[in-house]
Amino acid sequence: MAPLSNSSMVVDMTAPSTATYQSGANKTVKPILSARNVRKTYRTGDQEVQALRGIDLDVAPGELLTVMGPSGHGKTTLLNCLSGLDDIDEGTVLVDDADIHKLSDRKRTDHRARRMGFIFQSFNLIPVLSAIENVELPLLAIGCKAKEARQRAANMLDQVGLASRTSHRPAEMSGGEQQRVATARALVSEPAIIWADEPTGNLDSVTAGVILDLLQSVNAAGQALVVVTHDDGVGHSGDRLVRIVDGRIDSEEQTR
Ligand SMILES: Nc1ncnc2c1ncn2[C@@H]1O[C@H](COP(=O)(O)OP(=O)(O)OP(=O)(O)O)[C@@H](O)[C@H]1O
Ligand SMILES: [Mg+2]
Repeated sequence: MAPLSNSSMVVDMTAPSTATYQSGANKTVKPILSARNVRKTYRTGDQEVQALRGIDLDVAPGELLTVMGPSGHGKTTLLNCLSGLDDIDEGTVLVDDADIHKLSDRKRTDHRARRMGFIFQSFNLIPVLSAIENVELPLLAIGCKAKEARQRAANMLDQVGLASRTSHRPAEMSGGEQQRVATARALVSEPAIIWADEPTGNLDSVTAGVILDLLQSVNAAGQALVVVTHDDGVGHSGDRLVRIVDGRIDSEEQTR
């Protein structure tokens, strides 16, 4: 694969995971995530779906990477496999230099809790917990004190415009509100990488704008984001746009 080439970042995708980025200030920055030859096949009965067919991808610290592509072509699988939520069949994924698929389940879960935030396509909120309890969960998981976790969760819900829904359970909220709770939950622990699968897919254009602004502000503060989207505007609102077709990276372009 040809090296990426633009004025602000240069990385040799054929090199092993020690590849480095040249920042604008001519500083060399190691990618926060480095995936090589990632392959994933789902087997259902006697049917096989090659969902990922050799993905090479680096994400720089603080980068906003967007991912687009047709339905069913592997975008959610990419997020799940690169974040270590799902196993892979072949390849390596280094996050902060740790080969996440070689870690024990406990270490991998801990790594995710400390370093990653998730906004899932289907929200994945816990039905029996209220909005604020859902949002404070990632903080409690990394040992934050209950009072501080509650305060930070309340602030985060306020930022997504849900200060008046803190005690509602998911079933008592609209799809867009649930998406906003999921966004608050992903951001509350200020993770180094945020994975977002269609974060604005269920939102009206005004609320989508609020969420997008919030994602861009945490990105401006130095957090890396990988955002899957079907929305062309969102797709072109980051640093780089990668298109996934048939389980492969079909193209990539700098968008900023
Ligand atoms: N758990 C699973 N078991 C079997 N096949 C699966 C599983 N998850 C996904 N697939 C298949 O893998 C392929 C990629 O699915 P994926 O969910 O990654 O697509 P996507 O690009 O996110 O689509 P969309 O835009 O509709 O969300 C699809 O053909 C899908 O049917
Ligand atoms: Mg998907």
